[in-house]
Amino acid sequence: MYAFLLSGENIDLAKEEVLALSKANSFYLDERFLVANCKKFDFSKLAFTQKVYNLIDKVNSIQEINKINFQKYYREDFRVRLYKLPNNLDLDLGYDEPYFGSLIWSKLKKPKVDIENAKTKFDFVFTKNNIYICLELREIKRGSIRERDAKFRPGFHPSTMNGLFARALVNLSGIKKNQKLLDPFCGVGAILIEAGLMNCNVIGYDLDNDMVIKCKQNLKFYKIKNFRVDKCDALKIKGVKVDAVVTDPPYGRRSSLHGNDINYLYNESIKKSFNMLKEGGVLVIVMPSNLEVIYKNFKLITQLYHRVHKGLTRKILVLKKLNS
Ligand SMILES: C[S@@+](CC[C@H](N)C(=O)[O-])C[C@H]1O[C@@H](n2cnc3c(N)ncnc32)[C@H](O)[C@@H]1O
Repeated sequence: MYAFLLSGENIDLAKEEVLALSKANSFYLDERFLVANCKKFDFSKLAFTQKVYNLIDKVNSIQEINKINFQKYYREDFRVRLYKLPNNLDLDLGYDEPYFGSLIWSKLKKPKVDIENAKTKFDFVFTKNNIYICLELREIKRGSIRERDAKFRPGFHPSTMNGLFARALVNLSGIKKNQKLLDPFCGVGAILIEAGLMNCNVIGYDLDNDMVIKCKQNLKFYKIKNFRVDKCDALKIKGVKVDAVVTDPPYGRRSSLHGNDINYLYNESIKKSFNMLKEGGVLVIVMPSNLEVIYKNFKLITQLYHRVHKGLTRKILVLKKLNS
């Protein structure tokens, strides 16, 4: 059983990102701790997860931790970390990392501690009703995705999204490497950069020539090879068939609607995406939270919200093309 310590910014988005990549048979969420019955996948792709674990056991009391065979998971040396969800969860005095460290120590044949660089990383995650005893498999390097935020790219526009959000959108589409991903409203390319770095073949269009130039500049900056970006009206794209469409059309605030009515632009681009997707392909589309759109012939996989600031909350729809 795998478990995921989700980041606190947007738990729904973090959960759906894991489920889209893992194709889990079953799962449950306890605070921001997600337990999923799934196969191994490329955990390094995740944007809104902090840590990935092998779940050793789930218990309800500290006394039950005594029954766990820590030796079975131990390699060379170890360290223990404690997480309380929520942060202000009350734990009785004395139940701290040194306490659990000595408990594990007493159960090992040749115990050795290495706080900085342990081969065996035990994490104890406490929630209101449960204690999860976990073996850390991976800490997600979210900082390296943040290094691709707007301010670090050569081509800038205020309408662009940050790297973590763009990556999560790509992950929600469930796209695999070497498959084709289209962003018909690509702007300066945040979505295409993330998909390109995950080895997808990326295609982008924008009606604004300046955006097209900056988008190409950004893709080259991140050494993405398999891309095609052109100036084109998203509603007039021809001859394209893709596995996923992931897009953030304009809201008419920082990015121009180029004279279109917002309802018309979204509804037409959903119809257009249907025609450009292969059967079973996925459309991930972002919009202002108050916009209602029509998505005939698609199955709604999930609907999520993401607060950007006081004045803007984004709605994200993940839609799967139904067989025609
Ligand atoms: C919200 S921005 C996209 C931002 C992009 N996701 C990023 O992070 O850089 C929307 C883009 O759609 C473009 N656009 C507006 N109407 C369009 C149309 N009919 N066809 C193609 N692009 C259009 C705008 O020029 C703008 O660059």
